[in-house]
Amino acid sequence: MLPAHAQNPYQYSIQKTASGKNGAVVSAHPLASEAGLLMLQKGGNAVDAAIATQLALAVVYPAAGNIGGGGFMVLHLANGRNLTLDFREKAPLAGHRDMYLDEKGEADLNKSQHGHLAAGVPGTIAGIFQAMQYARLPFKTIIQPAIDLAAKGFAITEAEASGLNSDKEDFLKYNTRPTAFVRDNAWKAGDTLLQKELAKTLERIRDHGQKGFYEGRTAQLIIAEMKRGKGLITMEDLKKYHAVWRTPSTFQYKGYEVITMPLPSSGGVLLPMMMKMTERFPISRYGFHSDSALQLMTEIERLAYADRAKFLGDPDFYPVPVSALTSEEYITQRLKLYRPGIAGNSNDIQAGDAPKESEQTTHFNTIDKEGNAVSITTTLNGGYGSHTVVGGAGFLLNNEMDDFSVKPGVPNMFGAVGGEANAIEPGKRMLSSMTPVIALKGGQLAIVTGTPGGTTITTSVYQTLVNLIDFNLSPADAVNKPKFHMQWLPDQVFVEKEFPAEKKAALEKMGYKVVSRGRIGRTELIVRQPDGSYQAIGDSRGDDSVAGY
Ligand code: GLY
Repeated sequence: MLPAHAQNPYQYSIQKTASGKNGAVVSAHPLASEAGLLMLQKGGNAVDAAIATQLALAVVYPAAGNIGGGGFMVLHLANGRNLTLDFREKAPLAGHRDMYLDEKGEADLNKSQHGHLAAGVPGTIAGIFQAMQYARLPFKTIIQPAIDLAAKGFAITEAEASGLNSDKEDFLKYNTRPTAFVRDNAWKAGDTLLQKELAKTLERIRDHGQKGFYEGRTAQLIIAEMKRGKGLITMEDLKKYHAVWRTPSTFQYKGYEVITMPLPSSGGVLLPMMMKMTERFPISRYGFHSDSALQLMTEIERLAYADRAKFLGDPDFYPVPVSALTSEEYITQRLKLYRPGIAGNSNDIQAGDAPKESEQTTHFNTIDKEGNAVSITTTLNGGYGSHTVVGGAGFLLNNEMDDFSVKPGVPNMFGAVGGEANAIEPGKRMLSSMTPVIALKGGQLAIVTGTPGGTTITTSVYQTLVNLIDFNLSPADAVNKPKFHMQWLPDQVFVEKEFPAEKKAALEKMGYKVVSRGRIGRTELIVRQPDGSYQAIGDSRGDDSVAGY
């Protein structure tokens, strides 16, 4: 039974801010935030809330919420422990470095981005069952809101209707069975999306745990789908998949202890690099969106992303020099390349394409009244992933294989290039940008944040933290003020359409090529005061919504 004030799945509202003391959830969809809140109200903690939110997102936000993808979790426990869980997808055992090259040796990005061959071995359900050791409620309670939303349906938002309509051709092209996402008439806001097959899959997971996904009927359906679509994932891949607890990436920044995801998240290397460089300058004196701050941060982003392409990949397969890259000596060395007021350039390397705007990863945060907090970024990669739904099982498979370096120097869908460190190998995890963050102050929970956005993820998280800590912006402004992004290649500064024209002109005068684009990320933020009261903000860029009490 839902409590009286709960959102009605057929008529619900989006709430952008909340404050209180008892707990909060902020995610990309009001019904998913509500599912998390329900767990808090039933006596669950931030982990119960996070798992319920992840599962509900797989139903109400199919573009990125998922059980067929993967992600990262940063967890802060009220007892002071910090943990990071890697449930990133893996390359199938039959995968190999040249699997997306055609007979001429050219990269076939259609295959790495669409359909069965684009899918890595999903990690989300393994991640959920690892996280369950810190949850308090029975799993059957936690998964029930997702089952209800899938079985009984819910009203879709305008954004969802638009996504389903614009991707209809892809759904038709990359599926071997009818899917819940395609119908004859165009979708419109308020239409009910029913996902009966997904509901059955969720019930199998409820009844059989992790084996309800990686073994038995669901696994058989995945393998049958792979056979029909000539995909690579086998029963052995599913059985061997495991989520990994990794040592958190932590660093100090102006009195905050920042905790984020280590490799295979590039954020765990790039965020400390960028913030350590920032610390060397009086940036709060420069001021928010001042010419000096914009130019400094752009160059810092360029310097960090140049290293991403060369050095970063799955640490289980490639010896990444993390300590060296984040050392003070290296930061000093890199900053010698910085010229105040003058645009740097990345023109000695072949440029990539502009990042696309449909980066459909998703992020959510939960906190509870005890001071536990969870920050999760989870993804199918592109919007609706590979567009392939597992026939009979009702869930979308990711297209995460495109996050590998398909061929050295060839940009992926986010314009990111890579080489040996991120080459495809059987069982390897593809490099990610997902950067879920928790920051403590004086040992107490202070900031929980993260965002989707492909390669713009780490720069958005960086800017959100600097907005809060250095520019003293309000939580809402730290999230909603226009963002910018530089990733070394292409040698361009991307700015949101709302970015002030005079700031764009100032950057151009310094020698930057500035490119306007659609929204950058959908940042979710919870800021907590030492007295336990919180303020939670859902990004104004989407259907993002807060539920708290
Ligand atoms: N698929 C987006 C990322 O992991 O960076």
